[in-house]
Amino acid sequence: MATFTERMGPVLLFWLGLCLSGTWAVDKGNFKTCDQSAFCKRQRAITPGESPYRALLETMELTNTKLTLQLINDNNKVRLLLELYRLQGNITRVKINELKPLKPRYEVPDVLIREPPTEPLSLLSQDENGVVLSLGAESQRVIVSARPFRLDIVEGRDVLMSLNSRGLLGFEHLRMRKDTFSYKVTSTVASVWDNIKRVFSSSQADPEADNKEATDPPSQVETTKEEEEKVEDGMWEETFKSHTDSKPNGPSAVSLDFSLPGVEHVYGIPEHADTLKLKTTDGDPYRLYNLDVFQYELYNPMALYGSVPVMLAHNAQRTTGIFWLNAAETWVDISSNTAGKTVFGKMLDYVQGSSETPQTDVRWISESGIIDVFLMLGPTPREVFSQYASLTGTQAFPPLASLGYHQCRWNYNDQEDVRAVDAGFDEHDIPYDFIWLDIEHTDGKRYFTWDPHKFASPKEMLQGLMDKKRKMVAIVDPHIKVDTNYKIHNEIRSRGFYIKNKDGADYEGWCWPGSAGYPDFTRPDMRAWWAGQFAYDQYEGSMENLYTWNDMNEPSVFNGPEVTMHKDALHGSWEHRDMHNLYGFYVQMATAQGLIERSGGVERPFVLTRAVFAGSQRLGAVWTGDNAAEWDHLKISIPMCLSLGLVGISFCGADVGGFFKSPSSELLVRWYQTGAYQPFFRAHAHLDTPRREPWLFGPENTALIREAVRQRYTFLPYWYQLFYHAYQTGEPVMRPLWVEYPQDPATFALDDEFLLGRDLLVHPVTEEGARGVTAYLPGKDEVWFDIHTFQKHNGVQNLYIPVTMSSIPVFQRGGSIIPRKLRVRRSSACMEDDPYTLYVALDNRRTAEGELYIDDGHTFNFEKREFIHRKFSFTNNVLSSVNLEPDAQFTTKSWVERIIILGASKPSKITLRTADDQENQLEFDFDASMSVLTIRKPGMNAGADWTMTLQ
Ligand SMILES: *[C@@H]1O[C@H](CO)[C@@H](O)[C@H](O)[C@H]1NC(C)=O
Repeated sequence: MATFTERMGPVLLFWLGLCLSGTWAVDKGNFKTCDQSAFCKRQRAITPGESPYRALLETMELTNTKLTLQLINDNNKVRLLLELYRLQGNITRVKINELKPLKPRYEVPDVLIREPPTEPLSLLSQDENGVVLSLGAESQRVIVSARPFRLDIVEGRDVLMSLNSRGLLGFEHLRMRKDTFSYKVTSTVASVWDNIKRVFSSSQADPEADNKEATDPPSQVETTKEEEEKVEDGMWEETFKSHTDSKPNGPSAVSLDFSLPGVEHVYGIPEHADTLKLKTTDGDPYRLYNLDVFQYELYNPMALYGSVPVMLAHNAQRTTGIFWLNAAETWVDISSNTAGKTVFGKMLDYVQGSSETPQTDVRWISESGIIDVFLMLGPTPREVFSQYASLTGTQAFPPLASLGYHQCRWNYNDQEDVRAVDAGFDEHDIPYDFIWLDIEHTDGKRYFTWDPHKFASPKEMLQGLMDKKRKMVAIVDPHIKVDTNYKIHNEIRSRGFYIKNKDGADYEGWCWPGSAGYPDFTRPDMRAWWAGQFAYDQYEGSMENLYTWNDMNEPSVFNGPEVTMHKDALHGSWEHRDMHNLYGFYVQMATAQGLIERSGGVERPFVLTRAVFAGSQRLGAVWTGDNAAEWDHLKISIPMCLSLGLVGISFCGADVGGFFKSPSSELLVRWYQTGAYQPFFRAHAHLDTPRREPWLFGPENTALIREAVRQRYTFLPYWYQLFYHAYQTGEPVMRPLWVEYPQDPATFALDDEFLLGRDLLVHPVTEEGARGVTAYLPGKDEVWFDIHTFQKHNGVQNLYIPVTMSSIPVFQRGGSIIPRKLRVRRSSACMEDDPYTLYVALDNRRTAEGELYIDDGHTFNFEKREFIHRKFSFTNNVLSSVNLEPDAQFTTKSWVERIIILGASKPSKITLRTADDQENQLEFDFDASMSVLTIRKPGMNAGADWTMTLQ
């Protein structure tokens, strides 16, 4: 015990200090600015317009699928190798590496779902100034200019994107450290070199092909020894606060600028607590470095838990994207020639004829690795989503239950507490699907175990939930308590699976359990072992309704630099520096694999993660981390999830109610109403906050929260269909308006409202005491129906909507058909066989369409085409249901119990014709004041073909 408190002392003091500090603010001093990050400072100091890089056209080689070309830096004569590929679907890939690096540089593995298929490239023209290539079958070309080196991607007469047009390409070649250049150093390098070769030949399919150049003896040294290189502070060692980063490889940063003519709006590069439209970075650049930021501040470019290096650019003509595949610490600068100009200023420029084409310039800076960038050329938002999905995959199709409501807190104290909270939901008639256990459920923060007193019989508890068709999530974090009485630790240590520190011993850091080791999830054998720990006979007390939450996987190291891992820690022969932003991705990958394997590959996993990278969408859900019970945090949840959705990660949510602090009952209600319309819907609260289960705020607020959660459940069929679509296409479930109205500039910066799919428009109430909100209803020919009153509104308009506490404004698009289930029960599983109500909202042409997707809700059998996918359409007064995927097979007990047609006129009779040619007259009601037609008990099976004629 004495040793325990002794060891825990620093951690406790650290957290107590932060918790008691009172004022809400991130301690910015704990995190680096660009100026405090030596490579960022060096790269940002490169002056525009003086690029030393020249393309050596005589080295050009062109095969059918690939252009290679050497670049030379005229200042130091170091050569780079450029590779350019045209990939299928309007994607151009540009890779730049050293021609002969001293040792291999890190290339991000496991994020691309396959080696992307290429398309032909062909030479159009060439002279001493450059070459022109045609890209694929489209009318796109790439112009390579030789001096200075520059790439322009052109379609017709439009330049879509230019690379190094501002001359900011920077590539720090690997080098020997001058002051210690001696036999000793070279021999160390040589043995490291042998190691690397070994690793490569065992882990790569064809090491010779990829690393032929690299495995030649380092010849660069000869050339670089000659030149006078400036050794700056921070190149070979860097100190931040009390931490020194030894940099055995020296400077290795890469950077490149991209110009986007005609573009004023760029988006993406989550995760930041900022607006949807990215701002110009007059101060610090946006930073991508997965960090556990305590009490994060809003509206700034500081790094947060996740990093997805993907930016979208949009204007009324085109959408494009840049995917910078690099997992090291990265900074992104954005500048624009129209930044700061008012609309009036821009108009003045226009009438005075002095307006230049608007242009946004971005610059990416990464600490190590190579330049590997995918230029996704659109032209529409949908095509960019599909292009990005073709590289990194689509959203994992989640179990239906995980789209329901989740009740979490740090912590539910014991089994009795879990039982009482579970019963509270029944007592107050509020549905929920998952109850969550945070770190206190474990035996002393030893994951995969249970507190022997508080959770003495976990199976009994899980069985109790299962009897009600409910589920549980328990946390499993990647920091492993160093304790020789802990099986997990002993196995990881004995197998050598821990990340090593720079001296080769197991890396240790402070986290929740005290001293902790961090498994090396980059290793496939480690991930396979970890996955095995979720087997029912390994994870004692687990059952099939227990799922997993991976927190702290940035990774969080309380006593590490910037609360994370030392960059010189080692993953085999790679430094943590090279792949920091990938760590959390791998943790979630191994965990999801575990949940799949424990069921013999049958069941879909559900794993929540805090840290993400490109490709994390394939693995589960993400939340926006430790937010606060403040109105601004409710508001920022919208752009934060929209930004993640734009880069493929649809399954996003923010802690409902706010994690730190206590919400007023008004804020809590408004947060439930918003969360009910965001993809991942979970309430969560800090250990020190008063309890806040939905029924603790008086009967009126209980009723309001109940109504919000029930609304969520009525829309589950629509959510499920949207996720199926996201799984198929990569399109975001929750999306900014400009995705559907790409030519309407009024939508480009909107982030206080959003669309779910194409058909639901949601404008949350995020102001205290609001009496009304103004919603922008887009679409010149659209009509929008208030889902509560059925009142019809025309687009385009800014509509002022008075609000009470009872709900937030939500509209169904005229032209859509949305299936809902109105008989809300305890959990989504209890509603499985319940009947559907179809909401048919007619557009101005009196037509509408929609879809319905049904499967078993939890297995991978949908991959074997065991599902129902219907298309509904209403045209010429005929509503019909047809099979969208006739080769798929599934049966459902659910039937259609009601059809509500909005914007209808009164028919004299309604005839249903079923597949077996039976005809039936149906009963209906017509509300003339609202033009709402309700067809009662039409009674068809939800999987059947039918037509319904209104006469
Ligand atoms: C590629 O771009 C062209 C022109 O911008 C467009 O017509 C075509 O549909 C795009 N193809 C794909 C697969 O995105």
